Amino acid sequence: MAQTPLCEIPILQAPVASAAGAHLCAAVSNAGGLGSVSLTWRDEEDTRQILSNVRALTDKPFYANFVLHFNPTHFGVALDAGVPIVTFSWGNPAGLVKDARSAGTKVGVQVTSAESAKRMLELEPDFLIAQGVEAGGHVQSVNPLTQVLTDVVSVAGDVPVFAAGGLATGADLARMMHIGAAGGVFGTRFVASTESDAHPWYRSALVEASPLDTVLTTCFNGEWPNAAHRVLQNSTYLAWEAAGCPSPGNRPGEDEPTGFTAEGIPVPRYDNAMPRFDMTGNHEAMALYAGTSIGKLGSVIPAANIVQLIWNQACAILPEIAVTE
Ligand SMILES: Cc1cc2nc3c(=O)[nH]c(=O)nc-3n(C[C@H](O)[C@H](O)[C@H](O)COP(=O)(O)O)c2cc1C
Repeated sequence: MAQTPLCEIPILQAPVASAAGAHLCAAVSNAGGLGSVSLTWRDEEDTRQILSNVRALTDKPFYANFVLHFNPTHFGVALDAGVPIVTFSWGNPAGLVKDARSAGTKVGVQVTSAESAKRMLELEPDFLIAQGVEAGGHVQSVNPLTQVLTDVVSVAGDVPVFAAGGLATGADLARMMHIGAAGGVFGTRFVASTESDAHPWYRSALVEASPLDTVLTTCFNGEWPNAAHRVLQNSTYLAWEAAGCPSPGNRPGEDEPTGFTAEGIPVPRYDNAMPRFDMTGNHEAMALYAGTSIGKLGSVIPAANIVQLIWNQACAILPEIAVTE
C-alpha cells in the first residue's frame, strides 16, 4: 500500500468545525486515513479535552486546524498537548511555524493559487492543501480545484500537495492523484458519516441533495462576516435572496432564532453555526454547509467504510498508487 508522508492511506478528513469530534477524527485515523479536529473556536480547556479524547481513541496520527482569520491564542496549548500535525487556513502562519517545529509538530498550509503557494513554501511547510471553489464550508478559493491543484503542484517541488473541494469518490481521488496530488481531503463526505456530530437531519439532507442545491454565498455571516461559504439552499437562504440579499438589520426573519444549542442558547437565524446532533429547533433553516460533492455521497455509513470504499475505488482506477513504497 502506498505510504503518504502523513498516514497510511492518502485520505484526509477535512476540518469540519463542530461536525468532527474525537470519534470521527479517531475513526478516520484508525482506518489508515488522517482524521482531524477544528480548534479555531475552542478555548484552552476544550482544546486539551478534545485532544486527550482523540488520543484515548487512537494512537495513529491526526491533525488539528486553525483558521487564522481568528486569533489562535490557544495554539501553544495544542502543541503542549502533543498534537502531531497542524494545518492553517485563511492566513499566513509565519509566526507559528517555528513553534510547531520546536514541538516536533508537522505543518500543513491551505493555499489557493501558485502565488499563495510560493509565499507559503517560504515557510517550509511539510505539506500544502490546495482548496478549490467547489469546497463546502467557508471557501478560501475562487477557482476550480483542477486549476488550483495543477498550478500549486507546478510550484510545490517535493512538498506534497493534498486536494480539497467537491471530492467524494475514489474516482475523484484518482483524478486528483493523476494530476499530481499526494492525496485528497474530504469534508462533506465525512460530515455525512455515522460518527459525525452533525444533526441526523442535516446528514440525511446531505445524502439526498443534488449538486445544484449548493450555493456560494455570504448569507450566514454571524461571527465571520463577508467570508464566502458553500451551503445547501434552504428556507433562510431563499428568503434572504428573494429579498435582494439585504444587510444585517434588514434581513427576513432575523429576529427569530432558528433553534437552540444544548445549553439552551438561541441560534440566531443568520448565525454560522451548523446543526449539531444536540441542537433543537428548525434544523432546516440553519447553515447547512455542503460541497459540490453532494449527489455522489452515497449513504450515511461509518467513517472507516468511507475510507476503504474511496481507497479501493481509487486503487482500481490507478493501480500504481496502491504499490508499496
Ligand atoms: C461543515 C464544514 C465545516 C468546515 N470547517 C472548516 C474549518 O474549521 N477550517 C477549515 O480550514 N476548513 C473548514 N471547512 C472546509 C474544509 O476544510 C474543506 O476545504 C472542504 O470541506 C472540502 O470540500 P468538501 O466539503 O466538498 O469535501 C469546513 C467544511 C465543512 C463542510
